[in-house]
Amino acid sequence: METRKLYNTDASRWKRKEPNSLSDFTGRPAVFDLCGDVTGRSVLDAGCGEGYCSREMRIRGASRVLGIELSEKMVDLAKAQEQEQSLGIEYQQGDVRKLDLPSESFDLVLAVFVFNYISTRDMQVAMKEMHRVLKGGGQFVFSVPHPCFAFMRQEKSAPFYFDMEGRGYFSGVDCQNQGKIFCRDGTELRVQAVHKTLQDYFDAFEAVGFRSMPVVKELRVLDKHLELDPAFFSPVKDIPLHMAFRLEK
Ligand SMILES: C[S@@+](CC[C@H](N)C(=O)[O-])C[C@H]1O[C@@H](n2cnc3c(N)ncnc32)[C@H](O)[C@@H]1O
Repeated sequence: METRKLYNTDASRWKRKEPNSLSDFTGRPAVFDLCGDVTGRSVLDAGCGEGYCSREMRIRGASRVLGIELSEKMVDLAKAQEQEQSLGIEYQQGDVRKLDLPSESFDLVLAVFVFNYISTRDMQVAMKEMHRVLKGGGQFVFSVPHPCFAFMRQEKSAPFYFDMEGRGYFSGVDCQNQGKIFCRDGTELRVQAVHKTLQDYFDAFEAVGFRSMPVVKELRVLDKHLELDPAFFSPVKDIPLHMAFRLEK
């Protein structure tokens, strides 16, 4: 399904103030940790959705946060939350493949579960844009579903799955896979993953001009998650769920 249509249709399901979906526990906190101290830093949240990560960056002390998002309904939700609780975040409808922003204007570019909605080629286009808008010495932090996840968990059940429809790890590159990620409040979110191999990410870093060694995290269910809610988290225990990367320009 076309991404903009999916998120325009499902926008209200994504609205949250507290961690709720599986990746709010197993993914986003690790991404925030990778960002380090953001006090006084300008942040671009590329593919910001309804603003969950933008708000976290501002609460952690970022001086400026701009969220760019494809789905106008998600932008509306983000702006509505800004009306409810003003944090001084700016949201714009836009496409991460063509950022209408000056070069070298952000200290940190964040892209949380966004590249899984675009092809390998478009990811290089988007990453080049992100590299362009980063200041020299700035950081680029992003997360994606772990490329091996869907091959290691083939059950189509909670709390997270992608249906690879029998495709292979290499032959399935750039195929769009439908999936779901479940929330602790009992709701479900439709998600999609345009499959990429691990090498595709590293090829993109090189192609767009990131030269430093990336910090790489393979994200999973931790003991603290199992203690919090064993029934929810245990079906994906010991499986790589997401990956997070930090690069420096
Ligand atoms: C899984 S949601 C994550 C939202 C947010 N980053 C978060 O972590 O809560 C993916 C978001 O990326 C947006 N997106 C996908 N492709 C995009 C593109 N080309 N440009 C801008 N946003 C995009 C979708 O509309 C959706 O809101």
